[in-house]
Amino acid sequence: MLVVTGISTLVTNDKSLERGKLGIINNAAIVVGDDNKIVWTGESINLPREFASVAINVDGRAIVPGFVDSHTHLVFGGDRANEFEARMSGKTYSAGGIRTTMTATRAATTESLTNNARRLAEEALNTGTTTLEVKSGYGLSVTDEARSLQVASTITTETTFLGAHVVPPESKIDDYVNLVCGEMLTQCTPNAKWIDVFCDHGAFDVDHARAILGAGAKAGLGLRIHANQLQHGGGIQLGVELGVASCDHCTHMNDADISALADTNGRTVATLLPTAELCTRSKFPDARRLLDAGITIALASDCNPGSSYTTSMPLVISLAVLNMNMSCDEALWSATAGGAAALRRTDIGSLHIGAQADFALLNSSSHVHLAYRPGVKLVDAVVRKGECVAGALA
Ligand code: NIG
Ligand code: FE
Repeated sequence: MLVVTGISTLVTNDKSLERGKLGIINNAAIVVGDDNKIVWTGESINLPREFASVAINVDGRAIVPGFVDSHTHLVFGGDRANEFEARMSGKTYSAGGIRTTMTATRAATTESLTNNARRLAEEALNTGTTTLEVKSGYGLSVTDEARSLQVASTITTETTFLGAHVVPPESKIDDYVNLVCGEMLTQCTPNAKWIDVFCDHGAFDVDHARAILGAGAKAGLGLRIHANQLQHGGGIQLGVELGVASCDHCTHMNDADISALADTNGRTVATLLPTAELCTRSKFPDARRLLDAGITIALASDCNPGSSYTTSMPLVISLAVLNMNMSCDEALWSATAGGAAALRRTDIGSLHIGAQADFALLNSSSHVHLAYRPGVKLVDAVVRKGECVAGALA
């Protein structure tokens, strides 16, 4: 059992409380039961007496649900600091850089891939991320993709097969699509929950993406898509047609894309990745257009060595507010409950009774600091499944 009191602002995202979208309780307490689920939330003054004797007082700091980072590429070898440096001197970003990381990933030992992914997962945890989705996509051969998913499965249950990231240099596109839909899918499915395709300029077109996602669905995998990052295309429309859980990036959108997503009534989430725009000096998508249309937005880090080498969800929240016209409350919701929706999970991203006890203790009295103080360490402690796994509550 874990009992925390003295919480100035408790963000629950619990709709049943009827306290706005964030379900904020001030001067709050929270109780985690022995099954590591939330058993009580409310004002400290109403905390049942039996809990009070074991309570930890956090002295007026804020608690928010743990961040759900629903889009990362943590399994890779090497880095691309040289490419980043060249880009900052005027070169443009392209999908081709993925092949540089493919070479480093194929050359890496499984132990070093695992250690690197663990290091990044630990970095994410320390900034408040309690759930990570992790994709393959830098192996691009049957053995290297299967190995990447095996590594990913040591980090999370939210694993995604992204064999269709780009075509490797030794293959022709049609042969490679057949391989992804055939032997590679067979070898990767045991360690994958989802399948994803990079449907964009320099990667896969809509017809190839449709074939690959169709094969994945047949194999029992959930669907997601990288769409409209580098240019406008049919990826979002395809995602909606196939009922994907999430269309990710959505940097280039027209009115038809927006109404297609809106018509799903939240079934297909738009996952926005503002650190990818930041690190490629691209134009940020206007989240306000999506919110006004009623689209559910998730925010995620896209952590990868090419376009977004960061694990920081507080930075993502900050950028979404400062550059994408989201309010502080909307951005926090999208980085927690929105991420859970993108993974079709109801047990995380929210601190309702019965939810998994995943939360972050901030070093301030208000969750607004997540946007207001960009780039600063704001998380004092992280609780995952009822256990303090980073920092200290007291
Ligand atoms: O999500 N868009 C495709 N994949 C990654 C980038 C991969 C890379 O450049 O290594 C992304 O931004
Ligand atoms: Fe990505």
